[in-house]
Amino acid sequence: MSYICLLKFNLFMKKLLITLALVLTAFCTFADEGMWLPHLLGKQVYDDMVKRGLKLTKEQLYTVNKSSLKDAIIIFGGGCTGEIVSPQGLIFTNHHCGYDAIATASTVQNNYLRDGFWAKSLDQEIQTDLTVQFLSRIDDVTAQVEDSLKGLSWNDRVRAQQRVFDALTRKATTGTDREARIYSCFKGNQFLMYTFERYRDVRFVGAPPESVGKFGGDTDNWEWPRHTGDFSVFRVYMSKDGKPAAYSKDNVPYKPKHFLPVSIKGFKDGDYAMIYGYPGGTNRYETSMGVKLKTDVENPSLVGLRDVRLKSMFEEMRKDPAVKLKLASNYASVANYWKFFDGETKQLKKFRTYEAKQKEEETFNAWAKGKPAYENLFADWQKVYDEWTPYAKHRMYMTEGVLGSPLAAFGSSLAGLEQAMSAPNVTPEALKKLAANADAGRKIFLESEDRASDQRILAQTAMMFYQNVDKSQHPAGFFEELGAKYGDLKDPATFSKWAADVFGSTLAFDDTRWKAFMDNPTAEALRQDPAAKYASAFLNNYRTNYLPKFLAFTNRNNELGRLYLKGILERDPVKAAKLYPDANFSMRTSFGNVKSYRPRDAVFYDYVCTMKGMMEKYVPGDYEFDLPAKLIDLYNKKDFGQYKDPKYNDVVVSFITTNDITGGNSGSPVINASGELIGLAFDGNYEALSHKIAFDKDLNRTICVDARYVLWCIEKLGGATNIIQELKIVK
Ligand code: ARG
Repeated sequence: MSYICLLKFNLFMKKLLITLALVLTAFCTFADEGMWLPHLLGKQVYDDMVKRGLKLTKEQLYTVNKSSLKDAIIIFGGGCTGEIVSPQGLIFTNHHCGYDAIATASTVQNNYLRDGFWAKSLDQEIQTDLTVQFLSRIDDVTAQVEDSLKGLSWNDRVRAQQRVFDALTRKATTGTDREARIYSCFKGNQFLMYTFERYRDVRFVGAPPESVGKFGGDTDNWEWPRHTGDFSVFRVYMSKDGKPAAYSKDNVPYKPKHFLPVSIKGFKDGDYAMIYGYPGGTNRYETSMGVKLKTDVENPSLVGLRDVRLKSMFEEMRKDPAVKLKLASNYASVANYWKFFDGETKQLKKFRTYEAKQKEEETFNAWAKGKPAYENLFADWQKVYDEWTPYAKHRMYMTEGVLGSPLAAFGSSLAGLEQAMSAPNVTPEALKKLAANADAGRKIFLESEDRASDQRILAQTAMMFYQNVDKSQHPAGFFEELGAKYGDLKDPATFSKWAADVFGSTLAFDDTRWKAFMDNPTAEALRQDPAAKYASAFLNNYRTNYLPKFLAFTNRNNELGRLYLKGILERDPVKAAKLYPDANFSMRTSFGNVKSYRPRDAVFYDYVCTMKGMMEKYVPGDYEFDLPAKLIDLYNKKDFGQYKDPKYNDVVVSFITTNDITGGNSGSPVINASGELIGLAFDGNYEALSHKIAFDKDLNRTICVDARYVLWCIEKLGGATNIIQELKIVK
């Protein structure tokens, strides 16, 4: 769209180029980039939406006191979006958002993750630990925050800020059922308070088998074309008097202020598409130095370490369904961003983002010349990066390597316990409490622990630390001792022997010794434990020598980032009025169109995928590309019901749009021009995985599961006509 606009402009209006260029660019380019604040849709953004096809009024999109679209959009669990689709609090979200709850509800006998599940009545719905949050209002509290922090140095500001936030949110919510959070926008130049109602009784209603909900697995993840039925269904309950409440048999289905009708009318290439949701984080004002650190050090370290961990888990998961259920959820989230960060590096390089950022910075520097507040900004910033860069790899090897072993992570909590127990003047009561916490922590650890894979992870990550982190940064004496006892440090077998000993002799797995320790908890027992010893050697080294450097780095980086954004906002107030703040898990709206694309030379990607393509990918018995027999049978009979797309004579499984979204938007409703649900956003495309830092207006696409396929799966595959009847279907 944007590209075509400019071309026409050049052809027909060459002569007026300079004066009109700016005006037209504002209308034509970057139309799809932007995660807009729904309460602040300026006239220009709203008019753009209308031009692209929107048929709703501004008030229908967002109003505080009357019901509007925003009332149907929820924060689902800890990091996803969901939407209300019935007058009885029914929720649609992604399968990968419900994944943990589905796996937790499953056993090897009742394997809902593998086989799918449908509650045919309210009393069959399954209790979960999930919560959902409804947005009540958004208030700009920048003036109050700034007023309280006035005159403070940066360090004092950092220290005081949370206190100021707490005071403001307390004032806004005391005596209500609400909770509020303050979100920093434009890197701390604007503060918005979002107020929510949190509901704690959320029940699992249904999901297709994993072979449908995660079809294509990690091979197809972050890629188009895609044939994943990435949806699951939940319901939110409230107390009988209509309030948020903890789980109770007496609760009743939530009565929404607004719910989304579901359209099965279909759409064409180019149709309007709008997405509401909670994008988690972008960094569109990242510096060239930040890009370089990411592509050269952080991403490759993370990817290499996760690669090893994933392979180890996968080996056990495919052997045993019980292990698979235990590790599935953790595996999926580690794998998701393993592939993301690998793709991000590739795309940042392809788009030459580092060089583009350098150009932007040169322009900024030219403007900053002679302005004392800004002219040294980038020179200072470079020094901050130079100081931290030698230690950045160490940090990744701690978080993704050493602590990537679940036993080592549990060992680190034992090391913490050891320190607390060694403190002078610990009372026996305090000791008891610490021990009880450790006992609870151990239960949680053991519930999701698979020893075989973890033992390999421990050995391999320790070895990778030894090989790849600068020797001068190793914990004093640790590897020397290991080598002396187990052999040549260049030989992987040395680390395997050591890991076997750690697993064989730690307290963590030995119920008898653990009980004895609980009866008589001493710091000395923990000091002897090899898992605690390993974790504390690395953590103490990190905390003493490198964490302070990291904190200094982030502190300065934030301070300079805030100044940079302040400069950008000041430099061109007209442009500044049209900027959107980076994603920060606050509610946003994005608009665009359903749109095909050309990922690379000579290749064209259609805007939809159908069941035909799914059948082409089908591999019987495969871990990622298998399909339920019933689905194949229905497909062969062409039993598509009311969900068939006439153009394709098939069910459309998924489609793509030009919307600007990111992780956190998962489960977000894709809404047509009339405010009806046409799909659920669930992914971004590989060719634009640089999107957190640099949005590409030609290649960026959002991947969505089609509402018609969702309903087909519910009705035909799942037989859950009870759910179909509950919806408001627009034909
Ligand atoms: N990439 C998707 C997202 O971040 C998650 C897809 C989950 N599937 C998977 N194969 N891990 O929203």
